[in-house]
Amino acid sequence: MPSLSDIADLNSDKEALLAFAVAIPHGHKLNWSSNTPICSSWVGVACTPDHMHVHTLRLPAVGLIGPIPANTLGKLDALEVLSLRSNRLTVHLPPDVASLPSLHSLFLQHNNLSGIVPTALSSNLTFLDLSYNSFSGEIPPTIQNLTQLTALYVENNSLFGPIPNLQLPKLRHLNLSYNNLSGEIPASLRKFSVESFLGNPFLCGSPLPPCQGVAPSPSPMSPPPAFPSKPRKSFWKKLGTGVIVAIAAGGGILLFLLVTVLLVCLLKRRDKEGSLVSKGKGPAGGRSEKPKEEYSSGVQEAEKNKLVFFEGCSYNFDLEDLLRASAEVLGKGSYGTTYKAVLEDGTTVVVKRLKEVVVGKREFEQQMEIIGRVGQHPNVVPLRAYYYSKDEKLLVYDYVPSGSFSTLLHGNKGAGRTPLDWDSRVKISLGAARGIAHIHTEGGGKFTHGNIKASNVLLTQDLEACVSDFGLAPLMNIHATPSRVVVGYRAPEVIETRKSTQKSDVYSFGVLLLEMLTGKAPLQSPGRDDVVDLPRWVQSVVREEWTAEVFDVELMRYQNIEEEMVQMLQIAMACVARAPDQRPIMEDVIRMIEEVRHSDSENRPSSEKSKDSNAQTP
Ligand SMILES: *[C@@H]1O[C@H](CO)[C@@H](O)[C@H](O)[C@H]1NC(C)=O
Ligand SMILES: *[C@@H]1O[C@H](CO)[C@@H](O)[C@H](O)[C@H]1NC(C)=O
Ligand SMILES: *[C@@H]1O[C@H](CO)[C@@H](O)[C@H](O)[C@H]1NC(C)=O
Ligand SMILES: *[C@@H]1O[C@H](CO)[C@@H](O)[C@H](O)[C@H]1NC(C)=O
Ligand SMILES: *[C@@H]1O[C@H](CO)[C@@H](O)[C@H](O)[C@H]1NC(C)=O
Ligand SMILES: *[C@@H]1O[C@H](CO)[C@@H](O)[C@H](O)[C@H]1NC(C)=O
Ligand SMILES: *[C@@H]1O[C@H](CO)[C@@H](O)[C@H](O)[C@H]1NC(C)=O
Repeated sequence: MPSLSDIADLNSDKEALLAFAVAIPHGHKLNWSSNTPICSSWVGVACTPDHMHVHTLRLPAVGLIGPIPANTLGKLDALEVLSLRSNRLTVHLPPDVASLPSLHSLFLQHNNLSGIVPTALSSNLTFLDLSYNSFSGEIPPTIQNLTQLTALYVENNSLFGPIPNLQLPKLRHLNLSYNNLSGEIPASLRKFSVESFLGNPFLCGSPLPPCQGVAPSPSPMSPPPAFPSKPRKSFWKKLGTGVIVAIAAGGGILLFLLVTVLLVCLLKRRDKEGSLVSKGKGPAGGRSEKPKEEYSSGVQEAEKNKLVFFEGCSYNFDLEDLLRASAEVLGKGSYGTTYKAVLEDGTTVVVKRLKEVVVGKREFEQQMEIIGRVGQHPNVVPLRAYYYSKDEKLLVYDYVPSGSFSTLLHGNKGAGRTPLDWDSRVKISLGAARGIAHIHTEGGGKFTHGNIKASNVLLTQDLEACVSDFGLAPLMNIHATPSRVVVGYRAPEVIETRKSTQKSDVYSFGVLLLEMLTGKAPLQSPGRDDVVDLPRWVQSVVREEWTAEVFDVELMRYQNIEEEMVQMLQIAMACVARAPDQRPIMEDVIRMIEEVRHSDSENRPSSEKSKDSNAQTP
């Protein structure tokens, strides 16, 4: 039972947050209101398991502008994680926030905070990121007291003075680059690489060149000493392009890289910025270019050429973290290659690297906004962030752990395969139908998916279907490559018009239903006979009244499902009608599938037959 004092605690957290929201202008609407439950419906807020205290507050890139109000966040006395990164916070970091005793992770990078780094810091801090701000003054020696600290990022500030002799046993990540620190690097920090100390002209000693009597005085225009920049210890970079091509061509499975090209480009760019050598380029970095009205839109850009996160997204990483992540190729699709990326802190996301994007930046951003908005549905894979530059377009999605419908249906055909049972097939189909219907009803009914196929239906652990790849077609030059949509799923009229419609999505969904009923994969490309044109094949079989023959042998082991299978087959056949206007709309498809379920599932035991399951092979 929550005690009165616990309730009082949550109320005090609530008041503190409301006071914060009132005191700080924020372009993005924080949907915090005193009459909605703080733990379950306030964006960015997470509570302790007992729902008594606010435990996490993550508001990255939500357009907070100005000073962090004192006496607000500092009252959240159970707060462990605070992220206000990539906003436009100014002035100092209030001491009451920095010293919150429970705080262990503080992310304030990419703001314009100034003043000194508070000396009173929570002794429980393990992760402190103050990089890309305007902090000045010295690194407080009290950092020595943070014995739990594993990461200290203060690069790109205006800190000066000596580096304290930090004896922090757990410190693994350190970046003091681009400040104005001086003197000799203390012995305890010599194990870090040059990359941790770049751009501090008055700093010396290992790993930098040894200290001399007098430090040379730099002229303002001259670049800081150019230290040989060691390649990062990153999997991505180690692989040369040749290796990648070879692995990819060989159908390689595990591949530790996002894209060397991307990394090299970015590093080059960063090196350029970092060394102040601007070769005909304008001032680097986005901070000088103030984002204007963008804050009012659904998507906003905290920094030029940075990852742009969507509202309500609780991820806490930046492009650099993403590039540092280890990655594995999940698949090569018609829009580009998809990777599973595991970040240093264990966060797993899916990164899609788009190829052949033909639209400009503005249009791209608008499309991202649409994808972000439409993705707010349990049956659509949500887009979390994107990155756009001239050479590279990346999309970041939630990682959906259980693979795709296609893998479950056709993967691992060998021994040890667990066939996908009927109930799961129906559940997945229904989920996919709901996702597609959602896409069709959003935006006043003008959106289509355009690439419905079993490998674009991803599955959560409890087999909830999530439709992926929505909204990418408008970015691509479809006309240049008409074969993009897998042939077997493509409605007949699309072959001529080359334009997908909601009705052509319904057709593709019908093929998907046939696929789950028959266990056969539809035609992948013309001229291959190992797979069939499903609608045509099913039509011919049904016409000759061997209906039972069309069904997947793996389904034969389940009892009392024939009726449901036949009903599903009828729904599928309606969807793949040749004439678009004879096909039902997705809402009707959902209703029909739900009816199949209701009419049969209650009185049907879903037990397996004990009969031999490979009695017949179509
Ligand atoms: C606020 O936004 C979050 C994330 O977008 C959402 O989960 C929540 O339901 C919203 N709360 C209210 C009260 O609208
Ligand atoms: C500091 O962290 C430890 C371990 O996580 C925790 O037990 C302790 O309560 C924390 N201290 C404060 C003041 O919250
Ligand atoms: C470390 O903390 C102790 C109290 O916990 C304090 O007395 C001491 O001054 C601190 N050390 C530094 C360097 O601030
Ligand atoms: C950097 O520090 C040195 C003294 O260590 C000082 O002379 C110089 O003016 C500082 N530069 C800037 C840009 O603050
Ligand atoms: C530290 O930050 C600078 C500037 O952003 C970067 O060039 C450098 O690679 C970083 N160092 C490490 C160790 O990550
Ligand atoms: C970091 O600092 C360096 C040196 O002042 C500068 O060239 C670079 O643009 C800064 N990076 C960002 C992202 O502000
Ligand atoms: C950051 O704040 C300082 C004042 O502390 C101001 O001079 C500077 O213009 C600000 N920079 C940006 C990019 O807003």
